[in-house]
Amino acid sequence: QQGPVFDSNAMTLTRFVLQEQRKFKNATGDLSQLLNCIQTAIKATASAVRKAGIAKLHGIAGDVNVQGEEVKKLDVLSNELFINMLKSSYTTCLMVSEENEHVIEVETDKQGKYIVCFDPLDGSSNIDCLVSIGSIFAIYRKKSEGVPTVEDALQPGNQLVAAGYALYGSATAIVLGLGTSGVNGFTYDPAIGEFILTEPNMRVPEKGKIYSINEGYASDWEAGVLNYVAAKKDPSKGKPYGARYVGSMVADVHRTIKYGGIFIYPATKSAPNGKLRLLYECNPMAYLMIQAGGLASDGKISILDIVPKKIHERSPIFLGSKADVEEALSYLK
Ligand code: AHG
Ligand code: MN
Ligand code: MN
Ligand code: MN
Repeated sequence: QQGPVFDSNAMTLTRFVLQEQRKFKNATGDLSQLLNCIQTAIKATASAVRKAGIAKLHGIAGDVNVQGEEVKKLDVLSNELFINMLKSSYTTCLMVSEENEHVIEVETDKQGKYIVCFDPLDGSSNIDCLVSIGSIFAIYRKKSEGVPTVEDALQPGNQLVAAGYALYGSATAIVLGLGTSGVNGFTYDPAIGEFILTEPNMRVPEKGKIYSINEGYASDWEAGVLNYVAAKKDPSKGKPYGARYVGSMVADVHRTIKYGGIFIYPATKSAPNGKLRLLYECNPMAYLMIQAGGLASDGKISILDIVPKKIHERSPIFLGSKADVEEALSYLK
């Protein structure tokens, strides 16, 4: 007979977060409150993304951000949504956004104990051509006493309390790691305006068949990367891998968690630390990949062990299935 037409007991993200909170007897509920405010920022961003063309949000806002990139209107809108929803959660005391050169301070009467580093719109070069884009967030607890300063945001990824991303793809999904229950995937159900648990306990395959890297920069790569990628295409070394590269980190990482394989954004001569930013791209994605059973390295050490010195510092990243990352690292000098 037909399954339930309307699930009256759906496991929503909101329910899941409250359920996880129960595991901590002295929990204040602040993290649940913070995550639910992030969820609202994501729902609003998804709504803007999905009607940007009609709402004339496409195109260049005529501004250039601290990254030297043309800022597109959706970048600006999603950044404002995250800042406003996080500030009004009364659970944050400091924020780092890709779109803000300096740390974002929270007025004293709204301060809480968490620090959030976020990329409000990831993959902005893909906005106008309707290719999947996302948002990424990383949550730390303030460790120091006294007034929050930029030092409070310079914690290594191994101090993360939680991290996650939203993917505005063929469906809108949130993938979340809370440190307590692995990595869980939720899909947005527009009928009720909630994210529903669809992928409990996500695990990355031990080894994959896909490599993901921007080969346009091959002439700039170090020899180890060049030799590894060549090996992935060499039939004498085994069945060649498939190549997939979206150009939105969130989409490339989500595919890697689901299907396995490796995602690489290496150092190049012109960008000796690669392009991806440690605080709000490499760290949250490394945290999730490792919690799902994979690896994430800068080529020498685990991404999560890098102690940041600057809020927008970059890092090379080799991320994905354990066997694939280990093999790639074996090619580096
Ligand atoms: P953002 O749009 O937040 O600046 O991030 C873009 C990043 C990341 O999403 C993606 O992996 C990478 O840029 C792609 O860079 P290339 O176009 O150099 O390959
Ligand atoms: Mn950018
Ligand atoms: Mn990004
Ligand atoms: Mn961005």
